[in-house]
Amino acid sequence: MEKYVINGGSHLNGCVKIQTAKNSVLPILAATVLTDGKVTVCDVPKITDVRNMVKILGCLGCRAVYEKNDLIIDASTADCCEIPSVLARELRSSVFLLGSVVSRFHRAKIAYPGGCDIGLRPIDIHLAGLKRLGVKITEASGYISCECDKLIGNEIMLDCPSVGATENIMLAAVKADGVTVIKNAAREPEIEDLQKFLNFIGANVSGAGSGTVVIKGVNELKGGRFRPVCDRIEAGTFLIAAAMCGGEIELDGVNAELLSSLLHKLRENGCKIRVKDDKIYLKSEKRLYSVKNIETQPYPGFPTDLQAQMTTLCSVCKGHTIITENLFETRFKYVPELKKMGADITVIGRNAFVRGVENLKGAELVAHDLRGGAALVLASLAAEGKSEVLDISYIDRGYSDFEYKLRAIGGDIVRIAV
Ligand code: UD1
Repeated sequence: MEKYVINGGSHLNGCVKIQTAKNSVLPILAATVLTDGKVTVCDVPKITDVRNMVKILGCLGCRAVYEKNDLIIDASTADCCEIPSVLARELRSSVFLLGSVVSRFHRAKIAYPGGCDIGLRPIDIHLAGLKRLGVKITEASGYISCECDKLIGNEIMLDCPSVGATENIMLAAVKADGVTVIKNAAREPEIEDLQKFLNFIGANVSGAGSGTVVIKGVNELKGGRFRPVCDRIEAGTFLIAAAMCGGEIELDGVNAELLSSLLHKLRENGCKIRVKDDKIYLKSEKRLYSVKNIETQPYPGFPTDLQAQMTTLCSVCKGHTIITENLFETRFKYVPELKKMGADITVIGRNAFVRGVENLKGAELVAHDLRGGAALVLASLAAEGKSEVLDISYIDRGYSDFEYKLRAIGGDIVRIAV
């Protein structure tokens, strides 16, 4: 067990290199099972979700080796279609393997996926989509078993635009007979990135980024070298950190277009923001103003994965904000922790009513999930005095070198074994 010890009050100044997106790398790693060619995924982030996905690939019989920051996957040796619960429970994205494993072996058995506890997180839409492709599904003793003679393309209407279900069905359909059309598909940039990767290795997918994705089945996929898109959530977290602490930071290797909803809000808060090529500059000079409302929505709306960080920022702005979480039911678990620091926030159902206070005070805090945990780190960096953030293994699921990157721009943060 490890914790962060943070002395708040420093401004953040300097440059941060943005990692490749966790939510892009994970489905791409799942997709490697579809090919016998060697795939090199460049600059994979050093996060536990990736490490666990690599363990699962190993358990399926794939070979994975790191070459510096690149990860080379050779799935030609894959010979197993079962993912034990001890691994599946480590990360939500284990569910993506249903699509790719059933495509490869026409069989798959996987324990119910784990991941951060931010709500019910059902997988009914994933399973309904697979059934439409001809997969027979049985559920027993915490396991989902899939079987089919072959996968057959079909039209699939999603009940809601689920990111994971869109990706899972894409993976299952890539080598199916005929054409699959996913309607009401999610439009997140990471889905477009998955399409880019799949086409790069020989698939025929179009429409990702819109509400309709069309997958024409192909017989074979090859290997190749691919660099996933930038992590817009990591980028957003650093922007909000600088907005809260004050200072001037530059993000390098980022696509500002993917962060439009956040940049719009931060400008309303009073931050000065400039975009040039793959860089975003943010300057925050004085106490910021509240924005009236923030509502999480599917892309291109405000991302649920930045809700906790943004609520934390609002907790020290001048004025009131109402934050509405539309995607996940229990994504305000960090609020009681912020209250220990003096934040004035009331949660009623899906809404958090925030009254900005002058400043937060250091406290002992517990992380309950990945993004909520990162928000507590931001609060501690901006607070007066010393804070400790416990259970930081949640944060390690999604942020690579988090404390190194924060220290490099002036944050006083160290990791300590408990
Ligand atoms: C992905 C992201 C996660 C992000 C979320 C929303 C990855 C690895 N994770 O999660 O970081 O917070 O998108 O942008 O990419 N739903 C159902 N049934 C299903 C599937 C989903 O009811 O079968 C509901 C969920 O409960 C939720 C909503 O749909 O309310 C959106 O979830 P979804 O888009 O599937 O999120 P994930 O793919 O789990």
